[in-house]
Amino acid sequence: EKAGYKHFMLKEINEQPRAVRDTTLGRVSLETGEIFLPEMQISQQEFKAATGITIAACGTSWHSGLAGKFMIERLARLPVDVDYASEYRYRDPIPDATNLGLLITQSGETADTIAAQQELIRKGSKTLAICNVVGAAITRAAQGTITTNAGPEIGVASTKAFTAQLTALFVFALYLAQQRGTITPEESLHYVTELSKIPAKLEEVLRTVDAQCCELAKSFSTARDFLFLGRGIHYPIALEGALKLKEISYIHAEGYPAGEMKHGPNALIDETLPVVCIATKDPADPSSVLKYEKTLSNIQEVTARSGRVIAIAVEGDHEITQLVEHTIHIPAAPELLLPILEVVPLQLLAYHIAVRRGCDVDQPRNLAKSVTVE
Ligand code: M6R
Repeated sequence: EKAGYKHFMLKEINEQPRAVRDTTLGRVSLETGEIFLPEMQISQQEFKAATGITIAACGTSWHSGLAGKFMIERLARLPVDVDYASEYRYRDPIPDATNLGLLITQSGETADTIAAQQELIRKGSKTLAICNVVGAAITRAAQGTITTNAGPEIGVASTKAFTAQLTALFVFALYLAQQRGTITPEESLHYVTELSKIPAKLEEVLRTVDAQCCELAKSFSTARDFLFLGRGIHYPIALEGALKLKEISYIHAEGYPAGEMKHGPNALIDETLPVVCIATKDPADPSSVLKYEKTLSNIQEVTARSGRVIAIAVEGDHEITQLVEHTIHIPAAPELLLPILEVVPLQLLAYHIAVRRGCDVDQPRNLAKSVTVE
């Protein structure tokens, strides 16, 4: 059942090209760039009139929501709030009928996320869902569900469900942009074409970075703490990298926005601290290049204090290899799609470190696959 893999987690990491392809299939036209989501029971008029989106989710699904905020705000020009589902209903939120709720959940049965959906509905919002389980409770109460076709996920640490969520969010952001008229047909076609290249790029990442992550695990599996840094849409991926490492290897890890380091966490840096920096860029996108340059100077702050930097960068970036101890290269892509590629080395790094430490990667201590209590 593990198809020759040692663990479900490794099998599921390797299933990501298919998970992304199946989440895209039938929803996009490669001829026109048009997005089809017939499952939406919300009219174009309502999407046009919407004043904001509230995303509520937990754990890894919350991280995909945080990345989704960048996609929706950039493409559909609609403000997005991202809440921990467990916090949402306790802060007396103020949604209304022009606000749309979006619940993201692999299982569809997380108690906190169900409670957040009930609160949204009670306060007059319509809700949508992104879910990996057809027919789950949350999907039944939603006015439309984008099913992530990742297939059953057995490993407690979410991997393929996460990249499928990022894919679904990207498709949804494009759909919303088309409904609201904030994107040109040319831009749509460009994004859809780039999305269709992601599965092959994922295959390439899986082929090229596994051995390197396995090697890195040898030098870093005894670290006491880890930092993960990213800026913009890459920040949620830093959080996800830290969560993967914490939950399966029991090493303390934190994700931080790269620019926040100088406001406190720089004090933690010494020659024993591994710092994973996501420093990818889309050279065709000036705002992405600007963020990248800022991140480079944050990296220099870390290396100046002898921190041990592992950078995630795009192919052909040799500038960064001069600056840091290790660089993991991934294929280039438009900025909004880079997260799907850059999380893979973080998953593999966590996996190989956990295996070296003798941890039960599929069944980490104290954790359950679905959290059905609040
Ligand atoms: O099924 P859900 O997506 O609602 O689950 C949410 C979290 O419990 C889940 O993502 C958790 O954080 C994972 N174990 C992380 O790997």
